[in-house]
Amino acid sequence: MYKIVVLISGGGSNLQAIIDEIQAGNITAEISAVISNRADAFGLERAEKAGIDNHVLDHTAFSSRESFDQSLSQIIDSYEPDLVVLAGFMRILSDDFVEHFKGKMINIHPSLLPKYKGLNTHKRALESGDKQHGASVHYVIPELDAGTIIIQGIVPIKESDTSDSLQQRVHKVEHQIYPLAVQYLAEGNLHLENDKLLYKGDVLDTPFIENLK
Ligand code: GRF
Repeated sequence: MYKIVVLISGGGSNLQAIIDEIQAGNITAEISAVISNRADAFGLERAEKAGIDNHVLDHTAFSSRESFDQSLSQIIDSYEPDLVVLAGFMRILSDDFVEHFKGKMINIHPSLLPKYKGLNTHKRALESGDKQHGASVHYVIPELDAGTIIIQGIVPIKESDTSDSLQQRVHKVEHQIYPLAVQYLAEGNLHLENDKLLYKGDVLDTPFIENLK
């Protein structure tokens, strides 16, 4: 069975979307463990309810980023996962950690990357007068929000949009594209070869959800 470890820091609605698709039989995989760096993350309750092993690794108990990342690696490695899914994990990861999980760690970011890396993406898209916004699933590399993009979902921006209303619609798209990315990876239909994304054997130049059949 294809094994996944999910890292969270908060609500875990993306975790829930993946749990739901596994339970519906649309993703052939199991979530072996959920790990949070915060004890109060609601996503831990979602994991518990779904009967998934869950751990809290409190980063404030560690003296350095490296020592936290080492302990985190050890817990993840103990599950021997095929894929590590960052789902709202609000930690900058050390280069060694990223290197260790190279090619098998993915993240979701609330923008149409390469636009708006970092925080406050919804506000920045509105302030720039963009006509569209969205979310991207990408491989994780040491540079923040910069790895090869796997799938993107577009959200048209309305005149009446506020940061909050836009965020809510982007969140809904996240819940579609993240499980889909996991599904394709678990099926073995997506591969990274020399930093190019191959989908069912063909190079996927524009990885929008609409192009995936
Ligand atoms: C999402 O907006 C995701 O794009 C970002 O963190 C948020 C996590 O939300 N990386 P949730 O915890 O999955 O609800």
